Amino acid sequence: MPLVFIVLFFIKTDYKIQPAIKSIEKEEESDYNALVVMMRRLYCTAGAGMEELLAEELQHKLCATQVEQIPGRVFFCSNADLQTVTQLKSAERLFILLRKSEALSLPNNPAKAAAVIKQRVVGDPDIWRQTFLTWTALQQELQSSKQRGQKRKREDEEECMNTPSFRVSCRCSGVIARSYTSQRLSRIIGMAIKEDLGWKVDLRDPVFEVNVYLSDDHCIVGIPLLKHPLSSRSYMKHNGLRSTIAWAMSSLCPKKLNDCVILDPMCGVGSVLLEAAQEYSNAVFLGMDTDLLQLQKAADNVKSSGMEGRVQLLQSSAMDIPLADGAVDAVLCDVPFGRKFSCSSDMRTALPRILREMERVLRVGGHLVLLLSLQLSAQLKKTICTHEHKQNVNSSDTNNLHTDASNTHNESTETPKPLMFHKSSSEMSNSLLLISLLQAQRTHRVSLGSTDAFIHTYTKIKTQTLSH
Ligand SMILES: C[S@@+](CC[C@H](N)C(=O)[O-])C[C@H]1O[C@@H](n2cnc3c(N)ncnc32)[C@H](O)[C@@H]1O
Repeated sequence: MPLVFIVLFFIKTDYKIQPAIKSIEKEEESDYNALVVMMRRLYCTAGAGMEELLAEELQHKLCATQVEQIPGRVFFCSNADLQTVTQLKSAERLFILLRKSEALSLPNNPAKAAAVIKQRVVGDPDIWRQTFLTWTALQQELQSSKQRGQKRKREDEEECMNTPSFRVSCRCSGVIARSYTSQRLSRIIGMAIKEDLGWKVDLRDPVFEVNVYLSDDHCIVGIPLLKHPLSSRSYMKHNGLRSTIAWAMSSLCPKKLNDCVILDPMCGVGSVLLEAAQEYSNAVFLGMDTDLLQLQKAADNVKSSGMEGRVQLLQSSAMDIPLADGAVDAVLCDVPFGRKFSCSSDMRTALPRILREMERVLRVGGHLVLLLSLQLSAQLKKTICTHEHKQNVNSSDTNNLHTDASNTHNESTETPKPLMFHKSSSEMSNSLLLISLLQAQRTHRVSLGSTDAFIHTYTKIKTQTLSH
């Protein structure tokens, strides 16, 4: 009976909007819902480079309004039910927004700093109470869809609503971080909330957490709506590529991948395939890898995600793909780099051959999506040249074709260029071997945590469209 608790909470605290919800009868529920909807300003955190994709996903899947991006966060309003919101694929964590303002500068004097925090981070206690009300209702919405008919866990829930316990988790960067540690700021903010709202600090088992982010540009305060990150996929028994990046690969594909055959020739534990499989329910998937252990883990993941009928796995090398020419509609591939994955050969040497195989098995009009390290992206640029450059290649230094990978960020607005792969630079002097016709579509930079990478997308075009 969540509404009863909410009512009790507001009766006790003599809250401003108490008359509106004091006796929530059936006919008044719509007022109450309107109130909740009115205050549903949410935000998600996102990995670097994922903000734009998250904003697109929010608009597309939730019809979100007032979508606003800042580095690492996307703010929005949505009336979608919370179950739908939790299905977002590109977000890290989900919060209800309490406060968003410009950066604050904190005096070094602790007493003065506490006063600034009271005013600028905590602010109006009524907003906190209203937001807590919305948070409670959303928790209830989540719980009722998860465990309908089950008894509530906490017997002291009524007490929790009157004087909810909380914990502050503060992250800071820039100027503030030079004078204050996150821990110290968390303590000062916690004290301010306690004093202004009468809520209890509980570091071990709080009813809710308050997240504060203070940077040189922003002061953001929110309450997480879920304990687990949206980005953790319960069906992944073995983790591989970050789920959000794996999802981004199919999302950046130039066309939707319904009714398609999709190949990942270096599938590892299957993250890319399984993210795409969640998104495209009518597609079928092929995963290949040279490493049997990886394939066994992929099989576990396929099983636990219930995708057995749609994902086939095969031990095979990406340098010699056992498929006919033009057999697949899309190739998605996270090409290995670094020391984490064993490669059958040096990837920089192997890349042209792997690309040629991917291009061969792709049908005309099909799409190739590659996740490459910055170094391999530069290598890609070294091993391919544009059709326009063909005439000049034999007479020019191959270095003229090199492009700095850092220039390729978000090139989606550039005119697509048909690409041809050629032999290694040492073999280039006399011949240009045309092995592929792939039209560059979009290049997108993302963060993998410790390092960045590029997602490159291409479309295979008809050979005849190029004049030689
Ligand atoms: C970056 S990992 C793929 C990670 C994958 N996206 C995941 O989430 O698990 C690259 C994979 O390529 C495999 N691999 C290396 N050389 C290969 C080759 N020549 N042919 C096929 N797979 C290869 C490795 O065994 C590794 O599993």
